[in-house]
Amino acid sequence: MTEKRSSFTGKIGFVLAAAGSAVGLGNIWRFPYLAAKYGGGIFLLVYLILAVTFGFALMCAEIAIGRKTGQSAINAFKSLDKRFGFVGVIAAIIPAIILPYYSVIGGWVTKYFYAFVSGDAAASASDSYFTGFIAKPFEPIGWFLIFMGLTALIVLFGVEKGIEKVSKVMMPVLVVLTLFIAGYSMTIDGALEGVKYYLLPDFSRFSATTVLAAMGQLFYSMSLAMGIMITYGSYMKKDVVLEKSVRQIEIFDTGIAFLAGMMIIPAVFAFSGGDETALGKGPSLMFITLPKVFNSMPAGAVIGAIFFLLVLFAALTSSISLMETVVSIVRDKLGWNRRVTCIVVFAFCVILGIPSSLGFGIWDFVSVAGLSILDMFDFVSNSVLMPIVALLTCIFVGYIIKPQALIEEIEIGAPFKAKTLFTVVIKYVAPVCIVLILISSILDVLGIMKI
Ligand code: TRP
Repeated sequence: MTEKRSSFTGKIGFVLAAAGSAVGLGNIWRFPYLAAKYGGGIFLLVYLILAVTFGFALMCAEIAIGRKTGQSAINAFKSLDKRFGFVGVIAAIIPAIILPYYSVIGGWVTKYFYAFVSGDAAASASDSYFTGFIAKPFEPIGWFLIFMGLTALIVLFGVEKGIEKVSKVMMPVLVVLTLFIAGYSMTIDGALEGVKYYLLPDFSRFSATTVLAAMGQLFYSMSLAMGIMITYGSYMKKDVVLEKSVRQIEIFDTGIAFLAGMMIIPAVFAFSGGDETALGKGPSLMFITLPKVFNSMPAGAVIGAIFFLLVLFAALTSSISLMETVVSIVRDKLGWNRRVTCIVVFAFCVILGIPSSLGFGIWDFVSVAGLSILDMFDFVSNSVLMPIVALLTCIFVGYIIKPQALIEEIEIGAPFKAKTLFTVVIKYVAPVCIVLILISSILDVLGIMKI
């Protein structure tokens, strides 16, 4: 490659770009439904503990690897140790698995934005609206193709800078609106039970599955264990204080996820009249609960339309960055031009995305242990591949290049305050926990599988 590697301008530029990749459907759609499903407060607690230990250490490690080598994932591992190039390869596969089903959900968001704009807001609050929609064979695929097509066009024409600018303005608006909706949700009759469920941990619901789910969510939400943060790190200037940037990204990402939970979980209680099965709705939770919230609120149709538009932008910035990653890996490996690569990646996503969409309708008989096709893609990437990549990254940093090599990188600019935490987590705590969790989840799968 003859192109000069560009870098982020200014100190805040890095944090904004990385946060733009991190904040997306993971925070607003995925986090609340997992928290609802896995016991509320206990999930939140496990998630927070993992975020300040695992998440922190792994993000520091990945960004430092990127900045140290100045290369993206595959080459970064290889350049530090030839034998570990394969870690970068596994990491590179993950965005390709996520992108198709991410775009199916992006399509649902697009549909809801359209429904709110076209006067369907009240209808969307009924119980059967969403289930009726996703069970249809063609309509959800149409919305998926719109979302995927938009992503592909933006990547093809290289206009993501424009989208990023818009979304930088929209993100703060999204935060304010989420705050407002969360505040409103809590005032609905019966919501207080939900606030308790979400904030007070019930230790009897703790299990290895909770930890696995929280860990997968952590990787997903912070775009970890898939090479993304290595690439971002390779663009980071040496004078940016790495530790501080990681803290800022974490606070931002976790803050939005927390608020999204506040917006959705109390409302689930309020509208289901204490029926606990409403909590287990999985991927559909946000689309079932939020329209009810908007419907009960003054000017709810307008607020709902604005909300879904903002979420659409958050989803687009993430899908663009996912597709950009896949495209650049394919181009590096196969040397194709940008246009051909975009078309091939688009076709690949359509082929994987259509079954994910049909899995909620005419293909709903394809199901393993209650998981739909979309859930299965999600499971393979988040609960299998990402923990494996995270484990290999820890072994690589802890025992091959040694933590000190990265600590030196992190300390350029400012002392690394959490140095000991970093070393202990990377060398001992994370590898042991990940192995235990993987074993227990495999046993789960072989046994009754209660993921
Ligand atoms: N973190 C993103 C979210 O919360 C999703 C995501 C996972 C992502 N991996 C990524 C986004 C890679 C951009 C690039 O929605």
